[in-house]
Amino acid sequence: MAHEDLPVPIFTTLEPVYGEGSLLDEASVRFDRLKSKFSELYGCQPDVFARAPGRVNLIGEHIDYEGYSVLPMAIRQDTIIAIHKHEAGQTTKVLRISNVNPKYDTCTYPADPDQDIDLKNHKWGHYFICGYKGYYEYAKSKGIDVGEPVGLDILVDGIVPTGSGLSSSAAFVCSATIAIMAVFDVNFPKKEIAQLTCECERHIGTQSGGMDQAISVMAKIGFAELIDFNPIRATDVQLPEGGTFVIAHSLAESQKAVTAATNYNNRVVECRLAAIVLGIKLGMVPKEAITKVKTLSDVEGLCVSFAKERGSSDLLLAIKEFLHEEPYTAEAIEKITEESLTTIFANSPTSLDVLRAAKHFKLFQRASHVYSEAKRVYLFKETVSSKLSAEDMLKRLGELMNKSHHSCSVLYECSCPELEELVKVCLEKGALGARLTGAGWGGCVVALVKEAVVPEFILNLKEAFYQSRIDKGIIGNNDLGQYVFASKPSSGAAIFKF
Ligand code: GLA
Repeated sequence: MAHEDLPVPIFTTLEPVYGEGSLLDEASVRFDRLKSKFSELYGCQPDVFARAPGRVNLIGEHIDYEGYSVLPMAIRQDTIIAIHKHEAGQTTKVLRISNVNPKYDTCTYPADPDQDIDLKNHKWGHYFICGYKGYYEYAKSKGIDVGEPVGLDILVDGIVPTGSGLSSSAAFVCSATIAIMAVFDVNFPKKEIAQLTCECERHIGTQSGGMDQAISVMAKIGFAELIDFNPIRATDVQLPEGGTFVIAHSLAESQKAVTAATNYNNRVVECRLAAIVLGIKLGMVPKEAITKVKTLSDVEGLCVSFAKERGSSDLLLAIKEFLHEEPYTAEAIEKITEESLTTIFANSPTSLDVLRAAKHFKLFQRASHVYSEAKRVYLFKETVSSKLSAEDMLKRLGELMNKSHHSCSVLYECSCPELEELVKVCLEKGALGARLTGAGWGGCVVALVKEAVVPEFILNLKEAFYQSRIDKGIIGNNDLGQYVFASKPSSGAAIFKF
């Protein structure tokens, strides 16, 4: 059976996930603390635990929601959840969600799975409710008798740094969903959980693609994964010897949910508009394009045929011919679509927020990024499986990462000054390639570095990038390890029953 068709594994010990040595020791301490804090808070032991990791995306940024494959790997930092279910018929039907980190206050929600999430009042516990709603929606759609909702006690321990582009939110939503499934004694194939967690995280108001949840659920220790969508599939990618991915935080926080209307969701809307306009220019009737075209991958076939007729295989030819670099006004697009933008997006309140906030739309730039980045993912995968020498392979992968960053920065405009500075420093200090990872607008850089020089590289980053920030008190001298670290591909989500 394919890996993605298997259910989430259930373990009775920590070793299969955390291996041995310091990682296992650290995990043991966290689980022990979770158990004792749980009984202190709720007066009972958890029934079951779930964990799901964060991820670093090596290449393929902002293309998953356009239907294109991406290439992330899981990192060791994860979210662990302990959960206890009340008996049916008990009067306290609430969800109590606490965190081992005192920074997060306990959140209480009704047990009603149909509750709305109050997006105007952002709370950390909302991410758990995404998973809760998602579980019920999915279980009902599968005809599972979910019974009356019951009270749940929950304790969370997350060590994926928030706002860092390393998917702390997906680690939380995935571990929440899996903990809920496990406490109700249900398990689904991983690819179904990847899909359902991707959809339910959208309750938080971002129109995210499925990369983060897919890798968090389907990761395998020792491998990066090529993730395909529609349907979701994961193919193991063995990374070349001699290279290490170093993750470094720019120290600018990226608040994806809070800035959605001007940043993340704005790009999703721009891509949809670019796809519709391309569809029409390439021969579709406006009405047909509006109903059928959701993503740039939907019009790829038309772009390919257009290029072929001109004796080329360049997907970007159609963009150059039919989209202009100057930003489009809403009116200019409406002339082409023969429909108002508010009508096109009438069913999507978060897209309507984007339309209200946007002054103009950069269709040429966004489409150029998406098609070229999709190609780079393919080239990255091809390079890794090629017969190149390790040295040449690493060099080539570094170049692809640099091109990806340039495209994210210039065409997709999802970088920020801190990320730009950090990428530059990484390259100056000997990285073979460096790029922003995740949604951008802050968060981390991933750099490909020769294994032998990793300690020296990190020291150099400290000097050139972090020291001034330490001096200003932005981070503590002893905390550097949380902000710069080498990362190996870690394992995916799991359930623990001790
Ligand atoms: C966020 C989203 C992902 C993906 C990346 C950008 O992490 O959750 O789905 O779109 O941004 O590549």
